Amino acid sequence: MNEHEALVGRAVREKHTVLLIGGLDTGKTTLSKLLLRTAVQEGRRCAFVDADVGQKSVGPPATITMRLIHTVADLEPEALMRADALSFVGSTSPEGHLLQVVTGVANLAARAREAGAEFLVVDTSGLVSGIYGQILKYHKVEMLRPDLVVGLQRGEELQPLLGVIQRFFRTEVVPLGVHPDVVPTTVEERAQNRETAMARYFADELHRWRVKPTVFMPALPPLFDLAQLDRLLVGLSDGAGAYLGVGFLEYASEEGVLRLISPVAEGPKALRLGSVRLEERYRAKRVDLRNLFGSE
Ligand SMILES: Nc1ncnc2c1ncn2[C@@H]1O[C@H](COP(=O)(O)OP(=O)(O)OP(=O)(O)O)[C@@H](O)[C@H]1O
Ligand SMILES: [Mg+2]
Repeated sequence: MNEHEALVGRAVREKHTVLLIGGLDTGKTTLSKLLLRTAVQEGRRCAFVDADVGQKSVGPPATITMRLIHTVADLEPEALMRADALSFVGSTSPEGHLLQVVTGVANLAARAREAGAEFLVVDTSGLVSGIYGQILKYHKVEMLRPDLVVGLQRGEELQPLLGVIQRFFRTEVVPLGVHPDVVPTTVEERAQNRETAMARYFADELHRWRVKPTVFMPALPPLFDLAQLDRLLVGLSDGAGAYLGVGFLEYASEEGVLRLISPVAEGPKALRLGSVRLEERYRAKRVDLRNLFGSE
């Protein structure tokens, strides 16, 4: 048995919340699924919290997502596409969106626990280096209170971050080497994965609603040119603190009105503005809302 399998066996017997961290292509997602598959086979009530906003396993990009795992079949890629709960981040990268990522993870972990899950696996993005990597992971641990943090590393690159977590929290921290069979992905493949995942989300029957300019968070400044919101990604609020899904805006210049386009069938109560515009083939291009609003 290798060190990964040994850890999986022990985690599934002893732990309740497992946070996986590591740089790009270190095997976080594969190990997350192995943990869940083993745990569900042992009869544990499991949930998968997907905190990676770019390379998604559960639901669309630019969101944090949660899926309850009742059976091994729930871990199949097709099944995982549908999230049981979703939190809108609005960007396909955590940079500049640490607050949205951390609050999203905290919210969805709470939702999973409320739904009866008692073995949570939290998969994360590869942002582990620099000040922002440390701040992001520190506050995720602060909110999640995992009893196991697994750090996947090729060399010693996670040691500063794992040291911080170990000093500030009571969780067990286990560094693991990267599995030799891990296949690295190129920047182009990552971009392609994001586009494909977004396109798949919007491939269902799409619904359209006319939207009033007063429904947004952040609120639009006075005399704002609505045309600037064309193709902007938005999160659909249920008006009760949760999100129904995502959509994008379309500006109809002849009528001067905004429409929301989304596969979500239920009309939203309010919309959160994202920080990406969906271009051709659902490629996400970054937008800085402060520039758009002409404010700080
Ligand atoms: N233990 C393993 N055995 C065989 N292949 C593996 C193993 N772990 C990972 N891989 C392969 O390596 C690739 C990257 O793994 P994975 O997606 O789990 O990494 P990740 O850290 O989640 O990557 P990302 O940074 O994109 O989120 C995948 O193609 C996966 O199938
Ligand atoms: Mg991954």
